[in-house]
Amino acid sequence: MGLERTLVELGPRSYTVFVGDGLLGGAGELLVEDGWRRALVVTDDNVGPLYGDTVTRGLRRAGLEVASISIEPGEGSKSVHKAFELLDFLTGSGMRRADLLVALGGGVVGDLAGFVASVYKRGVPVLQVPTTLMSQVDSSIGGKTGVNLPRGKNLVGTFHQPVAVICDVDTLETLPEREYRSGLAEVAKYSFLRPELWPVPLAESADLLKELDKEELATVVNLCAGIKARIVSADEYDTGVRAVLNYGHTLGHALEAATGYETYTHGEAVSVGMVFAAHVAAEVGITDGGLVDRHLEVLASLGLPVAPYPPAPEFERVLDAMWQDKKSRGGLTMVLLAGEGNAMVRHDLDTAVLAECYQRLMGGA
Ligand SMILES: NC(=O)c1ccc[n+]([C@@H]2O[C@H](COP(=O)([O-])OP(=O)(O)OC[C@H]3O[C@@H](n4cnc5c(N)ncnc54)[C@H](O)[C@@H]3O)[C@@H](O)[C@H]2O)c1
Ligand SMILES: [Zn+2]
Repeated sequence: MGLERTLVELGPRSYTVFVGDGLLGGAGELLVEDGWRRALVVTDDNVGPLYGDTVTRGLRRAGLEVASISIEPGEGSKSVHKAFELLDFLTGSGMRRADLLVALGGGVVGDLAGFVASVYKRGVPVLQVPTTLMSQVDSSIGGKTGVNLPRGKNLVGTFHQPVAVICDVDTLETLPEREYRSGLAEVAKYSFLRPELWPVPLAESADLLKELDKEELATVVNLCAGIKARIVSADEYDTGVRAVLNYGHTLGHALEAATGYETYTHGEAVSVGMVFAAHVAAEVGITDGGLVDRHLEVLASLGLPVAPYPPAPEFERVLDAMWQDKKSRGGLTMVLLAGEGNAMVRHDLDTAVLAECYQRLMGGA
């Protein structure tokens, strides 16, 4: 299998997303021209034992001095407290502004290490080496970093673009199945946003993806990385078109919050959120019911939920959570599709329409 490269074009902050298999051990070679001397690898206790050695050996082979630190897995590590701990570790290990921080893991490691890299000594370079499907197609690209506060997720953060992103699809083999499926929801999102770039409809490659077919995975991860790269290039600081990446996330975030972040993985909630958005688009008359059917087909083929898990939270709770979502700017915001490939951001949706579509989602109409 080949090595694919996508450039995220951001002027002086441009960087390459590498996608392929067997890339972990070659991270040093991919970056050799950059002339790094020392690297500090941040990983977690699940990923470190699986891939830490390969990455470290590869970097050493390329002549870098390497140290590493591992954090506890899970969202709980995306905290201000953990960020301070890491900053303290960097200071203690004498990390200089010219040294490289390497984030090896899923979105939690990537967001935390990216945040720490952005504030340590007013910014040190970070290399993203994502090991979940979610982080390969989404969180590692685009420079959003952050940690959570007790009152909400991602409330402290920065924009800090990485120096490169290395997506090795081999790592997905060890990913728990539910985490993998969660990432497929973001893949489906990209296919709804930019269907014209998909060589065959996603439902047709669902079986290959479910079997973790390497070639198909590399194609799909590269496709998603390319779509994200283009959107980020057009709107680095998320003041315009980047909002379309929130497709399915208005209800998705609300379902996660209304169920205490215990019931749904992020992707499962986004999957239900995309079906909801398709119902809303049909209800307000910007598309026909075919959009809902096509969403149901694609998402079900990937083994993703298309309705809230019972007992579904009451609509009022969900609505409340939608209003509280930090993405609402002076009102409830939703990305809708006027047919696949034609995304628009709407701020003018009527609560009665949303209530009706929430009922429909549960087979109520
Ligand atoms: N910065 C952004 O633009 C952005 C975008 C989307 C999501 N996010 C953030 O990403 C985070 C979620 O990331 P995630 O879904 O990758 O979850 P995660 O980082 O928590 O990883 C999921 C689990 O899989 C384990 N794991 C990771 N890679 C593995 C592998 N190859 N084999 C075996 N186990 C592995 C991890 O240890 C963890 O237990 C959230 O905090 C979310 O806010 C950020
Ligand atoms: Zn998401």
